[in-house]
Amino acid sequence: MVRKIGILTSGGDAPGMNAAIRAVTRTALRNGIEVIGVHDGYRGLLEGTFEKLERGSVSNILDRGGTVLGSARLPEFKEDEIQNACVRNMSREGIDALVVVGGDGSYRGALALTKKGINCIGLPGTIDNDIPGTDFTIGFETALNTCVECVDKLRDTSSSHQRCAIVEVMGNHCGDLALYTAISCGAEMVISPETGYDELEVLERLRYLSEAVHKRHALVIISEKITDVSALAKKVSLNTSFSGRATVLGHIQRGGSPVPRDRMLASRMGEKAVDLLMEGIGGHCVGIIDNKITSMPIEEALERPRSSRKRLYRLFDRLV
Ligand code: F6P
Repeated sequence: MVRKIGILTSGGDAPGMNAAIRAVTRTALRNGIEVIGVHDGYRGLLEGTFEKLERGSVSNILDRGGTVLGSARLPEFKEDEIQNACVRNMSREGIDALVVVGGDGSYRGALALTKKGINCIGLPGTIDNDIPGTDFTIGFETALNTCVECVDKLRDTSSSHQRCAIVEVMGNHCGDLALYTAISCGAEMVISPETGYDELEVLERLRYLSEAVHKRHALVIISEKITDVSALAKKVSLNTSFSGRATVLGHIQRGGSPVPRDRMLASRMGEKAVDLLMEGIGGHCVGIIDNKITSMPIEEALERPRSSRKRLYRLFDRLV
């Protein structure tokens, strides 16, 4: 029987993490289970920075971005001795199960702790939408909203000046933020890890749009870590009739009040995590698949191929 559940947020923060903390805390308390908030991700487990959470501790956080527990990346958590120290700290505190909100690295940590006797459940929390075992991650929808709002504004000023806006969005090797933004904003081009990148092709297309089609503006949405967008903007100015301007949206995409869809997702997933722990299940991750809240073993999720985005890329191509 589970008596005390710990909860931590790990990796890059994401809007909606607070809603997950609230849902886990309140569902657990309703079932007579104590809740301990762990500060700053796995580092808090190692350093023993624990805080007892009551019902009121999670009041007024549902609409707040970031994570009230703090987050951190702790690469050393892979080490066996560090994991053992964390297990010792949890046992000392009486924590017999843990909910981890984070990315796939955080899932691996959750799996390792489960194998050491502490049942853990992973919830997918990241703006990147790059976690296997779920169609959507907590935070993606809000980040997408931010991207769309910014790109809509860039369109206004770009068409006033016959400019090409090259907009770099986050995603960490996953093109979803770029793809969904591009479709939602009617961009002229999307460049992502899935599309590949050919600079000459990009310049050729922009030359065509500016010189043959006489477009007043062009929006190019590009995933981070693909190319230097400032250098690309200069080449656009030199090689096409557009003047190029680069915008890196950066960490602004990680902040802000979560949109209702993220609040709902986090609330549903948080509830599910506690239900699983009460059933004695550990080493699972929660997801949403075809709009149903699901769970599966973390090992299975990590081995699953990502569902194909081909249809969405085809949609983009058809609408451009
Ligand atoms: O995983 C979320 C994310 O925002 C990625 O999109 C990005 O590549 C990375 O984190 C940035 O990390 P940091 O906040 O450590 O600079």
